[in-house]
Amino acid sequence: MPTPDVRPTAVIVLAAGAGTRMKSRTPKIMHGMGGRSMIGHALAAAAGLEPEHLVAVVRHQREKVSAHIDQLKTGAIIADQDEVPGTGRAVECGLEALSAAQGGPSVLTGTVVVTYGDVPLLTTEMLTELVRSHESEANAVTVLTAVLDDAAGYGRIIRADDGSVTGIVEHKDASPAQRAIREINSGIYAFDAEVLTRALTQVTTENVQGEKYLTDVLALARAEGGRVAAVVTDDRWQVEGANDRVQLQALSAELNRRTVAAAMRAGTTVVDPASTWIDATVTLEEDTTVLPGTQLHGATHLGRDAVVGPDTTLTDVRVGEGATVTRTHGSGAQIGDGATVGPFTYLRPGTQLGSDGKIGAFYETKNVTIGRGSKLSHLGYAGDATIGEHTNIGCGNITANYDGENKHRTVIGSHVRTASNTVFVAPVEVGDGAYTGAGAVVRKDVPAGALALSVAPQRNADGWVETRRPGSAAAQAAAQAGDATGPDRAERHTDSEKQ
Ligand code: UD1
Ligand code: CA
Repeated sequence: MPTPDVRPTAVIVLAAGAGTRMKSRTPKIMHGMGGRSMIGHALAAAAGLEPEHLVAVVRHQREKVSAHIDQLKTGAIIADQDEVPGTGRAVECGLEALSAAQGGPSVLTGTVVVTYGDVPLLTTEMLTELVRSHESEANAVTVLTAVLDDAAGYGRIIRADDGSVTGIVEHKDASPAQRAIREINSGIYAFDAEVLTRALTQVTTENVQGEKYLTDVLALARAEGGRVAAVVTDDRWQVEGANDRVQLQALSAELNRRTVAAAMRAGTTVVDPASTWIDATVTLEEDTTVLPGTQLHGATHLGRDAVVGPDTTLTDVRVGEGATVTRTHGSGAQIGDGATVGPFTYLRPGTQLGSDGKIGAFYETKNVTIGRGSKLSHLGYAGDATIGEHTNIGCGNITANYDGENKHRTVIGSHVRTASNTVFVAPVEVGDGAYTGAGAVVRKDVPAGALALSVAPQRNADGWVETRRPGSAAAQAAAQAGDATGPDRAERHTDSEKQ
């Protein structure tokens, strides 16, 4: 975590570019991985520095992007870049929006950090290191660099004979000798605010691309006597951007590898990291176990000793201490301490399972509150319902909650026992300690302690098969069973029950 001495004045996140190689109607920086959009990761890393001001510079698909940034609730100010192209102009527009937000021109002092909206693996720790080194060395500019085998396309770091940084040359403007340099500009910097503001007024668009280059600030800062330095990282993933979906997937896989490794170091057993996907936003307590084929998304939380998987996908699900969730698809649900879910269970939003409760195989639940120790063990649907404590819902029970126009609630008390294939036609209430008979269609409220029966008494048409299906296998089987009737058949029954 950053200490107050490295709190920068502002972080400006550049996000005005078009990102056409994504081939998408969705703006590039809104494409996601690991539980956040790329801009979401960038702003989270920036916000982690606890800057006085956070600014996002937008232009391409402005409405969508700025609405998304607002939703992220990082407190970022939106700055609009005008028609002048280039990273230098983008930062200038960011600084102008900042001064406008502060109520007019005032001299910005301290450290201004610049990052990109499409570099999702950059961490707060890396930014902290950059700012700390910038401030402790009293630099005018500190640039984050990396040494790459293939530096094509990047701006190259130009150093003097003494190793000090003299400037950056863009790939398109570079000479063959400069293109041989493998140290690249990540595009992430810490600037002295006053130097930055002053230098940007002198940056022109006189270059191959006709853009206002932010990179020109380095040489200008040095020319006015400022110290320009670099922090070289050997973690290339932290400075890598995604321009197309192939790069996006590569970054996503690497982010996941890091998230899973961090989870294991923090006390989670992950049996198969390769088939496990955990969002950066998920929280896991110690001694949790994640079995193969499991995806944990959003605000999902696993309590201590919980076991999840295999083949389970949970989005925004809270799993209580010691709970077990097997082969389950769930979202927006809460699973109590010691509860059991699965296998083959579909938990939809609003499902709240009490401690030591159970939702078993082939159950779908939605908007249902289930009390402590209650069990819905096999085959059914429970929606828009409240179930008390220690109630046992029999096999194949269904809450018929929808009348074709409106949804209605089913309320079932505590210590209730419902028999197989009970249908609750909502709205309906079942009192504490009540029972239902097999196949009951419960249309009227059941008082506490009552047994609800709704099926017609059974009638057997004796000899029906012999007359209506003569000669069939069933008829033959029935005839054989008939031969076995008599006193000794009754005896055999008794025998088998004794075994
Ligand atoms: C820039 C750097 C280059 C560095 C590279 C790292 C400059 C002049 N060059 O290259 O030295 O090696 O990043 O990736 O700065 N953006 C805006 N407004 C603009 C242009 C860009 O907001 O007018 C944003 C983009 O959305 C993106 C970032 O700035 O997030 C970088 O833009 P991009 O065009 O990818 O980088 P280059 O200028 O090619
Ligand atoms: Ca780029």
